[in-house]
Amino acid sequence: MNKTFYLETFGCQMNVVDSERIVSLLDGIGYSQVEDPKQATLILMNTCSIRDKAVRKAYGHLGRFKPLKEKNPSLIIGLGGCIAQQEGGESLFDTFPYLDLVFGTHNVHRLPELVQKVEQDRVRCEETEFLDMETRLRLFPSRTGDETVSRFVTVMQGCDNFCSYCVVPYVRGREISRPSQEILAEVEDLAAQGVREVTLIGQNVNSYGTQQSGEISFPELLTRVDAVEGIKRIRFTTSHPKDISPELVACFGTLPKLCKHLHLPVQSGSSSILQAMNRGYSREQYLKLVTQLRATCPDIRLTTDIIVGFPGETEEDFAATMSLLEQVRYAEIYSFLFSPRQGTGAAKLVDETPATVKSERFDRMLKLQDEITRQIWQADVGQTYPVLVEGESKVGEGQMFGRTTWNRIVNFSGSEDLVGQLVDVQITKAHRNSQLGELVK
Ligand code: 5AD
Ligand code: SF4
Repeated sequence: MNKTFYLETFGCQMNVVDSERIVSLLDGIGYSQVEDPKQATLILMNTCSIRDKAVRKAYGHLGRFKPLKEKNPSLIIGLGGCIAQQEGGESLFDTFPYLDLVFGTHNVHRLPELVQKVEQDRVRCEETEFLDMETRLRLFPSRTGDETVSRFVTVMQGCDNFCSYCVVPYVRGREISRPSQEILAEVEDLAAQGVREVTLIGQNVNSYGTQQSGEISFPELLTRVDAVEGIKRIRFTTSHPKDISPELVACFGTLPKLCKHLHLPVQSGSSSILQAMNRGYSREQYLKLVTQLRATCPDIRLTTDIIVGFPGETEEDFAATMSLLEQVRYAEIYSFLFSPRQGTGAAKLVDETPATVKSERFDRMLKLQDEITRQIWQADVGQTYPVLVEGESKVGEGQMFGRTTWNRIVNFSGSEDLVGQLVDVQITKAHRNSQLGELVK
C-alpha cells in the first residue's frame, strides 16, 4: 500500500522548521505528503502550547481525526511538538485513546524509527526525552524541502530566560547555539540554490553564542551573513530587549542587507509588571533602546508582543502600556490575554482582575493600535520602495507579491521572471494587512 502522511503545523517558526524536517525524514522512509487527511495512512500534528487557546485548538483538530481512525484502524495518528513535551505520552494516550505516537521537541530525528515501530508492532510509542547538549549540537535542524525566495535558518534553540508567564524554557529546554560555520555554510548553500532572503531564527537570537566558548557574537554572525553573495536581505527573530547590545543596534546602521524592521517584544509598558514577568528591563530601559535604534536607523519600524491581564495588572499598569504604544508607535502589535501555563511562576500568582475587565482592556488596546497601524501604512501611499518579489499573489491573475523592508506584503502587476529580484514599487493603496502597488520601470 502507498504510504502517505498528512501533517498539520501550529505555532512559531521553530515548529515550521521542525515540520520541514519531518517532511524530509518521512520522505526518507517512503512516505509522500498529502493535503487531505482522508487520503493519509499517517497523520501527524506538530503542536504549540504557548497559550491555552493554542492547546485547545490542537485538541480540537485532533478530535476530527478520531472518526477516520474508527473507519480505518490501521491509520497511524501522532502528536509532536510542545504539547507532547509538556503533557507526555501517558496522559495524552489516556485522553486520546486513538493516538499511536507522541514525540517531543528534541525527538524529531527519531521519527522514522518510531513510525516504523508503530507500523510493524502496532504498539503505542512515546519519546519525549530532552537530549544532552552534545547530541543537540549534532542534530541542529537545517533547511530541507523546496527552495523559495525567503527561508528560515535556525541559529539557536531553547531559552534560559524563564519569563514568569512562559512555558518555552520547559518545552524547548536549555539555550544552545548552533556553530557559526554551519550556519554560514547553510546560508551560502541557500544562496546558491536561489534563496534571496534569510531569517535567522531562535527563541532569543540576541544571546547567540554567549554560552559556547569561542563562538562569535550575534552582531558578528549578522556581519558575516551580510557578506554572503547572492543573499539580498536578512531578518532575525525573536529578540529579547535585555540582550540587544550596542553592537547589534549599530548593525542597523552599517549592514546594507539587514532589513529595517525589528520585532521587539515589550510585553507590558509598566515597569512593575515587567518585573513580575521577570523580563530584566524597565519601561525606561526599553524606551531608551527604541531611541537608540531610531537614532541609528531613522526609518526602522518596530513590531511587538503585548500581554494584557497579567496577574496584578492594575488600570494604572494598563494605562502605562497604552501610553507606551502611543509613544513608540509600533507598525503592528501581536496582543494576547494572559494565559496561565502549568509549571510557570505566573500561574501561581493571585489574579483578581475579572475576565470582563481584561477583555475590555484588550479591546481598548486594539482600537488604539489599529489607528496607529493604519496611519503608518497609509503614509506609504505615493512612496516608492524596493520590494523583494516572492511569487504569484493570491489576489489574482497577473498579480505578483513581495515585501518591503518592513515585511509588509505588497501586491502589484508583474511577471513571474521578477521572482527573487528587488524591484521598485510605488505604493498606491494600503489595506489592513497588505499594500497595493505599481511596478516602477
Ligand atoms: N499568556 C499570554 N501570552 C503569552 N505569550 C507567551 N506566554 C504567554 C502566556 N502565558 C506571548 C508573549 C510572547 C508571545 C510569543 O506569546 O507575548 O512574546
Ligand atoms: Fe519565553 Fe521569555 Fe524565553 Fe521568550 S525570552 S521564549 S517569552 S521565556
